[in-house]
Amino acid sequence: MSIPTQRAVIATTVGGPEVLQYRTEHPVPEPQEGQVLVKNAFSGINFIDTYFRTGLYPSPKPEILGREASGVIVGLGPGTGESGLNVGDRVVWLGTSGYAEYTAVPAARTIRIPSGVTDEVAVASFMSGLTALTLTQEAYDVKPGDCILLHAAAGSVGYLMTQILKSKGATVIGTVGGPEKVTLVKNLGADHVIDYRSEEGKDWPGIVDEITGGRGVDAVFDSVGKSTWEGSIASVKRKGVIVWFGNASGPIPPLLLSRLSPKCIKIARPTLFGYIATRDEFQHYSSELFQLLSSGELKVSIQKVYPLDKASQAHQDLESRKTVGKLLLKGDIL
Ligand SMILES: NC(=O)c1ccc[n+]([C@@H]2O[C@H](COP(=O)([O-])OP(=O)(O)OC[C@H]3O[C@@H](n4cnc5c(N)ncnc54)[C@H](OP(=O)(O)O)[C@@H]3O)[C@@H](O)[C@H]2O)c1
Repeated sequence: MSIPTQRAVIATTVGGPEVLQYRTEHPVPEPQEGQVLVKNAFSGINFIDTYFRTGLYPSPKPEILGREASGVIVGLGPGTGESGLNVGDRVVWLGTSGYAEYTAVPAARTIRIPSGVTDEVAVASFMSGLTALTLTQEAYDVKPGDCILLHAAAGSVGYLMTQILKSKGATVIGTVGGPEKVTLVKNLGADHVIDYRSEEGKDWPGIVDEITGGRGVDAVFDSVGKSTWEGSIASVKRKGVIVWFGNASGPIPPLLLSRLSPKCIKIARPTLFGYIATRDEFQHYSSELFQLLSSGELKVSIQKVYPLDKASQAHQDLESRKTVGKLLLKGDIL
């Protein structure tokens, strides 16, 4: 097979969205040991991509960003015979270099998409849905009757996690920025939604205190970080759990462990990849996700599909808090 060049988006250096440059003659990678070559139909945009772009999470530059995509396998690297994957399979994957028409990805993190699930839905729910599923089982195992505080509940992870928390029988208190997001998250079934950017919502820990009758919530899922961490500590109950899993507003400053003592709080700082490190774990959670999608139990929201050459705009939109649900890139839209 000869595919000499492709279209791709390169982060030339660390910086703002402007460092994302669209190239039309980027070399197509050769799949290495254990890798398959995928022609991407849709690539997912995740907030983590902005951390690699800004350098908050260090990575060598120039770099093709993007941690997931769906598409079709067009080549098999050496050592993939046992993977069960074949050329022509419709797949979704987790890896690196997703903002491109073609990506060489580990076979171990690539999985066939069931027939009832479209390419768009598979990738729009993949990293976000696996994060929501693993965190609500492994970082804090949500039980019926729990009261859970979820920040950024209208975002890509938040949209799916709200539904998963409700399906587990939890009472959900969501925080969001803006009245449209309040309506959206209420419609998803959240019991209470606070606009933490509004005048009355600014004291959201006070509102959580009122809602819980002074008891506090059983657990907080906090991916906002810098602007919410103190309120999250205030909002959790005695012997409660805080799961910090992201930095949308910036990283949490160094935290004295003694801050946890007065209420005997437990904290977790997980990453999705720590929960799907083995092929069995990856398959287990992917199957659970596909099952929820196929049955219609989990609804996916795709806000916008951008052409590859508009990746920079997509980053601007995501960081300016304008978006709800998922943003995707499409390689062959041009
Ligand atoms: N640990 C892991 O393995 C893992 C895996 C996946 C995702 N994550 C984390 O989960 C979070 C959500 O990721 P996502 O891709 O689904 O993004 P997203 O939630 O769709 O977008 C981020 C949201 O964060 C909120 N936000 C609050 N303060 C912000 C600020 N100063 N600047 C920008 N946004 C701000 C905004 O919602 P409001 O306007 O409603 O506040 C924004 O829409 C991120 O922190 C990400 O790093 C972690």
